[in-house]
Amino acid sequence: MKRVAILISGGGSNMVALVRSMTGDHPARPVLVASNDPQAGGLAKAAADGIDTAAVDHRAFGKDRAAFEAELLKHIEAAEPDILCLAGFMRVLTPGFVARFEGRMLNIHPSLLPKYPGLHTHQRAIDAGDSEAGCTVHEVTAVLDDGPILGQARVPVLPGDLSDTLAGRVLVQEHRLYPAVLRRYAAGDRKPLFW
Ligand code: GRF
Repeated sequence: MKRVAILISGGGSNMVALVRSMTGDHPARPVLVASNDPQAGGLAKAAADGIDTAAVDHRAFGKDRAAFEAELLKHIEAAEPDILCLAGFMRVLTPGFVARFEGRMLNIHPSLLPKYPGLHTHQRAIDAGDSEAGCTVHEVTAVLDDGPILGQARVPVLPGDLSDTLAGRVLVQEHRLYPAVLRRYAAGDRKPLFW
């Protein structure tokens, strides 16, 4: 049985989708939900689902990313995860941290990568007049939002869409795609999933 730790920064809807998918014959179980924000709404949701939680406030470390990560790593290493899932985790990780989990760390990004790495993905798709948008699950490498793609889900961009309405349509697919990819990944299957 694979052990999965999940990093969040906010409400944690993707984290909840992952946690609730890891039951029955799923090859993995959640062992920790950690956040860079002690006020992250997702921490209470994880605790309510009986998952161990931890919070390390990145603001206490100013610009010292390595010091922040060293503190976060104490909690992660204590949980001994096989797989690390970034789920709405908004801190850019240092190459040193990434190297430690390379080949076993996933992220979900709300665009059809390689289009629109970074922020404001939905508004950028609307401004570009794209007919489609979506989300991507990829392995994390030292280049932001760039690693091998493990899954993508597409949605139409509809006339009159605002970034919020498009984000809502994409989030529905995120909650389907990330659990589907994690189930395969935990079973050792890295064949990409597309819909
Ligand atoms: C999601 O759209 C995710 O793709 C992005 O941040 C949003 C946060 O969602 N990285 P949640 O915290 O999982 O609800």
